[in-house]
This record gives sequence, C-alpha cells and structure tokens, in this order.
Amino acid sequence: MMRRIAVCPGSFDPVTLGHVDIFKRASKMFDKVIVLVSVNPTKKPSFSPVERITMIERVTSHMDNVVIDILDGLLADYVQRVNACAIVKGLRAVSDFEYEFQMALANRKLYPDAETVFIPTASENMYLSSSVVKQIAMFGGDIRSFVPAEILDDISKRLTQN
Ligand code: PNS
Repeated sequence: MMRRIAVCPGSFDPVTLGHVDIFKRASKMFDKVIVLVSVNPTKKPSFSPVERITMIERVTSHMDNVVIDILDGLLADYVQRVNACAIVKGLRAVSDFEYEFQMALANRKLYPDAETVFIPTASENMYLSSSVVKQIAMFGGDIRSFVPAEILDDISKRLTQN
C-alpha cells in the first residue's frame, strides 16, 4: 500500500493554536505528517530547536500519525529524502500569500514531485502568529487564546525571564 507522507515545515517559535489546527487537518488528509522544525535564515528564534520540538511533542502527542523532525538544510532535499508527496502550509491573510507562493514555486523547481498544499486558516486564527504571541507574552499579556494550554506556562515563564 502506498503511504502518503506530508511535511509541515515552519519555525514554530513557538507553536501556536493556528499551527496545531493545521497539523490536525493535515493528519486527516495524509497517512503520515512530519512536522519539520526548519531553519528560516531570515529569523532569529527565541526558543532553541529542542525547546520548540518539546513543545510540539506535547501538543501533538494525541495525533497518532504525526511525527516531529528537525532540519538544518533545504526543505526540498528533505521532502525528496523522506519520499513525501506534499508540503503543507497554513495560509492566513493576503499578506502571507506572496511569500508562500514564492517558496512554493522555488520548492517545486527544486523538487517537482511534491506539491505544496495550502490549508486556509480557521477564521479565529487569521491574525495569529508566533511573533504576536511572543510580544504579548513578553509584556505579561494573556496568551491563552493563542497557544495550547499544555505549553502556556513554559512560554510565559521563558519570555518574561528575558
Ligand atoms: O514558519 P516560517 O518561518 O514561515 O517557515 C519558513 C520555512 C522554515 C518553512 C522556510 O524558511 C524553509 O523552508 N526553510 C528551510 C530552508 C529552505 O529550504 N529554504 C528555501 C525555501 S524556498
């Protein structure tokens, strides 16, 4: 039987309810979903890769076909290596579109055998982003409606420390 594998890449710095919603929906469409903590060279992360992976592990533990991996390299190479058929990304407002479209085209050029699949965000997560979460938490604001309950304290503690 052919197994359909999808890769769900991102910085996840930290993972939000918006990401978790996308993992869940992707897990229903594919046999296996690999959440891939990837290096975005244009961003300076607040959480270490291990911290990010640990948080994702805790919020996806109930999703049987979701696994986590880390990449310090090209996404297209990884996708080819694991024989995935899709790169899944959540898409929010128009502002995401140009950047995501550019990456989708570049990845397709590098590895044409995988399709980028955009899942439209749930309306309640339309304006949610890791950077918004970080700013609110840094100034002691309430991030309960933005991140899973299991990692709420970790994020608040860590960001108010610095
Ligand atoms: O959550 P982000 O920061 O928007 O995700 C961007 C990410 C990590 C998916 C992107 O930067 C990426 O794919 N990085 C891996 C390196 C790579 O393949 N870059 C070329 C993408 S066209």
